[in-house]
Amino acid sequence: MSVTSIKIKELVDKREEARLGGGQKRIDAQHKKGKLTARERIEYLLDEDSFEEYDMFVTHRSHSFGLEKQKYYSDGVVTGRGTIDGRIVFVFSQDFTVFGGSLSETFANKVCKILDQAMKVGAPVIGLNDSGGARIQEGVRSLAGYAEIFQRNIMASGVIPQISGIFGPCAGGAVYSPALTDFIMMTENTSYMFVTGPKVVQTVTGEVITTDDLGGANVHATKSGVSHFLASTEEEGLLLMRKLISYLPQNNLEDPPVIDCSDPIDRLEDSLNEIIPENPNKPYDIIDVISATTDYGEFLEVQRNYAKNIVVGFARYNGRPVGIVANQPKFLAGVLDIDASRKAARFVRFCDSFNIPLVTLVDVPGFLPGSTQEYGGIIIHGAKLLFAYGEATVPKVTITLRKSYGGAHDVMSCKQLRGDLNYAWPTAEIAVMGAKGAIEVLEGKALAAIPDEEERAEFIEKKETEYSEKFATPYLAAKYGFIDDIIEPRNTRFRIIRALESLATKKEMNPPKKHSNLPL
Ligand code: HXC
Repeated sequence: MSVTSIKIKELVDKREEARLGGGQKRIDAQHKKGKLTARERIEYLLDEDSFEEYDMFVTHRSHSFGLEKQKYYSDGVVTGRGTIDGRIVFVFSQDFTVFGGSLSETFANKVCKILDQAMKVGAPVIGLNDSGGARIQEGVRSLAGYAEIFQRNIMASGVIPQISGIFGPCAGGAVYSPALTDFIMMTENTSYMFVTGPKVVQTVTGEVITTDDLGGANVHATKSGVSHFLASTEEEGLLLMRKLISYLPQNNLEDPPVIDCSDPIDRLEDSLNEIIPENPNKPYDIIDVISATTDYGEFLEVQRNYAKNIVVGFARYNGRPVGIVANQPKFLAGVLDIDASRKAARFVRFCDSFNIPLVTLVDVPGFLPGSTQEYGGIIIHGAKLLFAYGEATVPKVTITLRKSYGGAHDVMSCKQLRGDLNYAWPTAEIAVMGAKGAIEVLEGKALAAIPDEEERAEFIEKKETEYSEKFATPYLAAKYGFIDDIIEPRNTRFRIIRALESLATKKEMNPPKKHSNLPL
């Protein structure tokens, strides 16, 4: 054997050893829990054979607690670069088989290298998390490592897309790196996120709670809104992340990728002419409207199970990615409340950061009234959505389907918030408030003067009809140019596509500033 052959064999052996992470026994234990290993996840995520690993031979530099005798190549995180549908992405994948995926100083350096390179070349970063948190033996150096990552997450925000997948434990301050990224995907039954675990919770507050109830995937998908996507298996989650990437540009200086589309742009959807119920208080499913208009009826919904009264997600019109924001009459009549405002505001700001046009479908009766909402700060949270729309400079196409009342009318991408093209269906009701509320205010004195209940009811009905005919229409708004056109519902797909095409070259700049003071 030549010297070169011996050296090559040594390299091959070392690579083999590195690929085993913390060893076969720990890999088997990982599989037994129904989990993939760090490298298997990367294989599922990326195009076949596209992964190039960095820093495979890195080991930790710790000399405490006997750690100097336990060294594993890669030191608990697999990092590198690969492609998704041929487009470059940077990846780090925490390896639970090495010290429980816990973060050391060298581990942090590896992740930072990935983030730095991704920023230099302008490509997304995907982090696959499965970790016991700070490596206890490294103490404060581990905390510093986290902070190095946080700082990079912050600098990368709005420059390159950052996506986090949670595939196992994610606890303590470690949750804050995913929280600083754009999207979090969690897997059912195997992942959890919390600032402090159940044991500490019980010690400090006396509350007895399970890991799942405190920070499981379902909790974050439905109650906290921390996670954006919920997958029932790891494989499904990784495919979902690939799909998400397909809608996004590589960075904030690029437009999102336009793909070929064979779905006819002028496809008429007669069902839309019938979708609005006769009774204004009857709901319908806004998802039916979305899927009737988008390419092939596809829609990647974000935060599907959280604040269901507003729907947000990605779709394409004639191959062009958009972000859709739509009130959902099926839940809470599509009212805007704290959670819905926060959910939509974050989504609008993401789309605006990455040049993704916004299509807004409006059917909103107003803001949810009451002390719970007021004490929770609906004023500030509602203002977030208002701010997000007003600040956004991407093309904004708004269609009002039915109700558009009061402050919520203004918030939902109205003309004066620099809405580029604002259309309405003939069924639209654009007014300060609904007929019932309006008549109570306007006719209060007259009503008090009618003692007979039946007579009063008749009077109310008459006045409400008068009001609805006069004010609850799109024609007043159209008269003032606040609505650019009133369109037949079945033409909606075509009108959105034409609007987006005409706006593709839109250029709008906000005044120079350090940054805005978003009502947080
Ligand atoms: C070093 C760790 C570790 C850690 C786990 N391991 N967590 N090593 N530092 N933080 C090691 C274990 O010793 C074990 O090693 C292997 O990883 C697997 O751990 P197990 O406990 O056997 O696995 P499991 O039963 O699945 O439990 C997983 C776990 C538990 C729930 C994550 O290990 C755990 O509670 N770890 C501590 C979590 C924690 O409190 N971290 C600090 C959070 S505070 P062997 O050799 O047996 O395989 C924090 C601050 C961040 O992270 C601040 C940022 C600002």
